[in-house]
Amino acid sequence: MTDLTASLIPDFDLASRNTLALQARSRFGFVLEDADQLPALFDYASSEALAVRLLGGGSNVVLAPGFDGITALIASRGRRIVDETATHTLVEAAAGENWHDLVAWTVEQGLGGLENLALIPGTTGAAPVQNIGAYGSELANSFHSLDAFDRRTGKMTVFGLQACAFAYRDSVFKHEPDRYVVTKIRLALPKAWRPNLGFAGLAELSGAGDLSPRVVMERVIALRTSKLPDWRVTPNAGSFFHNPVVAADIAAQILEEDTSAPSYPQADGRTKLSAGWLIEKSGLKGYRMGPVGVSERHALVLVNYGGAQQSHIAALASHIRQTVQSRFGIILTPEPIFC
Ligand code: EPU
Repeated sequence: MTDLTASLIPDFDLASRNTLALQARSRFGFVLEDADQLPALFDYASSEALAVRLLGGGSNVVLAPGFDGITALIASRGRRIVDETATHTLVEAAAGENWHDLVAWTVEQGLGGLENLALIPGTTGAAPVQNIGAYGSELANSFHSLDAFDRRTGKMTVFGLQACAFAYRDSVFKHEPDRYVVTKIRLALPKAWRPNLGFAGLAELSGAGDLSPRVVMERVIALRTSKLPDWRVTPNAGSFFHNPVVAADIAAQILEEDTSAPSYPQADGRTKLSAGWLIEKSGLKGYRMGPVGVSERHALVLVNYGGAQQSHIAALASHIRQTVQSRFGIILTPEPIFC
């Protein structure tokens, strides 16, 4: 068995490795540069009775102050065009690649399809886990397949689109969080690019002459920058709650009371509401609780004003859930993972 002792970093500080900048340490850190190291990592950890936690960009997690095990940072790199068909270009990227850099690189290659997903923080390997989405698009729209290490069998396995069971901010990987480690993903980008401008803020581009993936990407970057606080300036984890999908009659009651409520009818007859709107209408936009608060810019974003720990975020999230539930009768589901 490979002895990883020399590669482990003791008392590993994770404050700069989570976008909420929570105070967090791990008994050990391990930088995983190659997916081939996974079997040795898990063998070693089980022989030493150490838990293993995987971390990508740290943009969708609420880390505990201490983790008594190994936190493995996914740092595998590499992206390339692997195949061309009559209709698509197949791009493959390692899990540790930064998601936005991958989007920008595809656009530089003249490939469209990912531009609406620009500037989403985090790594490529984390993208399928919660089926990242923004501006009318989601990962599933461009997804081809992925490779994952199955901790249960110790073998690599390939997942096609159906096997991933993608849904709104959901996938099979979310339901079996300790089983699979995504190592590579492949995206099928269409040769006949058509812009996806259905989302408010992008629609006005439709009259623009020279429309290209780059023009759309730049607009998405401008929109995100104007709406969402930058985690490098004000640490946050993006949207903190899912937009709730409720029965049509519940949405109708809310709309009857306030016709300005954003509502999006779904294919299954239910209606998606805006969690940010519900939080704002509950009077919590800009609300502060100790070192954390609800962003003044976007009510769906919880921010760390400095020195916060997991418990501060947990208390604020719980207060928001209770307030929204007593005001609207709707229970919000947190998006980031507490780990
Ligand atoms: N709204 C308010 N008050 C606020 C914020 C928003 O009333 O403080 C209202 C807006 O006026 C708008 C509606 O809520 O009518 C929706 O807001 P926005 O367009 O900002 O989108 P969102 O539903 O809050 C979702 C995703 C984002 C994604 C945007 C754009 C979820 C949980 N979040 O946010 O994803 O960037 O749409 O497509 O689905 C993320 O997951 O981290 C994330 C940022």
